[in-house]
Amino acid sequence: MKRIAVLTSGGDSPGMNAFLRGAVKVAAARGVHVVGVREGYEGLIDGTFEPLTHESNGAIRPAPAFEADWVGAMGGTVLGSARSMRFKEAGGRSQAAKRLAEVDGLIVVGGNGSLTGAHVLAGEHGIKVMGVPASIDNDIGCTSTCLGVDTALNTIVEACDRIADTARAHRRAFVVEVMGRDCGYLAMAAAIAAGADAALIREQGRTEAEIVEATVRLVRHAFAERGKRRCLIIKAEGVDVPCTKLVREVDEKIRDLGVDIRATVLGHVVRGGNPSFQDRMVASRMALAAVNGLLSGATDEMVAWQPNVAGGIATGDPSVQRFPLARVLEETKALLDGSSSITQRRLKMMEQAEGVLPI
Ligand code: F6P
Repeated sequence: MKRIAVLTSGGDSPGMNAFLRGAVKVAAARGVHVVGVREGYEGLIDGTFEPLTHESNGAIRPAPAFEADWVGAMGGTVLGSARSMRFKEAGGRSQAAKRLAEVDGLIVVGGNGSLTGAHVLAGEHGIKVMGVPASIDNDIGCTSTCLGVDTALNTIVEACDRIADTARAHRRAFVVEVMGRDCGYLAMAAAIAAGADAALIREQGRTEAEIVEATVRLVRHAFAERGKRRCLIIKAEGVDVPCTKLVREVDEKIRDLGVDIRATVLGHVVRGGNPSFQDRMVASRMALAAVNGLLSGATDEMVAWQPNVAGGIATGDPSVQRFPLARVLEETKALLDGSSSITQRRLKMMEQAEGVLPI
């Protein structure tokens, strides 16, 4: 291979740039050039490619054409990202495949939709692809974590600590909403790490009335029974009751308590920010495995960090294995529809935590 392309797609996540830094350095060290694709699959269709390496004076290996060291510390993605509707059409994909004639392989960094796109591109057009899981929601199969999850959790926990400060000052309850359209992992993990009173997640399958009821119970328990000065409930975006509506409905039922309940939606704050040590380290090691995999002839696969299923392909790194994208997408579907043993295990752990968190 002489030249590979990298694109970032879907919701950005901290660590995408650290991955890009790693991929450019590993490829350059192997004598391979890298082009960056602008705006995800949109840029692939339009052919908006940018060289990320150039020939260096007299040296046998290419050199990064940009400040590779510098971008690794940045949040977001310097390549830009998009959710491409055109790529969902066969015509868009054919156009993208033609643009790829000038490269020997493609690395796709993104979530479920982006990895599905990579798999389809490999199947329909024989493009050599390698996927990299990047989604703050941690909703990708086979891998125990995705790029951005650790940074997002650190941001949520810090925000919850701040909210708890002011909540305690006024004896207030807060419902804090975090991202996670289809997966409640961020809410669950953050509730435990922030010492919240509970997490409300879509996977619990509760009705609106049950959610209101549970929240009222938690607030009463915290203030009337336990004499706490704050009650903190972390709600996943995927729970089908808007945060402000939930708070309004609960407020009407706790008037006798004499405590306020407020809503804070963290939203996109959670998706931005410089990647944590963990995300940079995972991104760099995934970059090594992804570039090495592609150069060794592997295709239609994804690199996974400390896999939570068996059957991966070993890389030189004990924490990184590769899985066929077809398997990854199957596991992802099961994770999201609740049939995966991992979702069941997470729910069981959450049930246990429910008995402990409000104490
Ligand atoms: O990246 C996944 C995600 O963070 C979801 O949790 C959230 O619903 C979505 O992105 C928001 O995406 P957008 O910025 O396109 O509205």
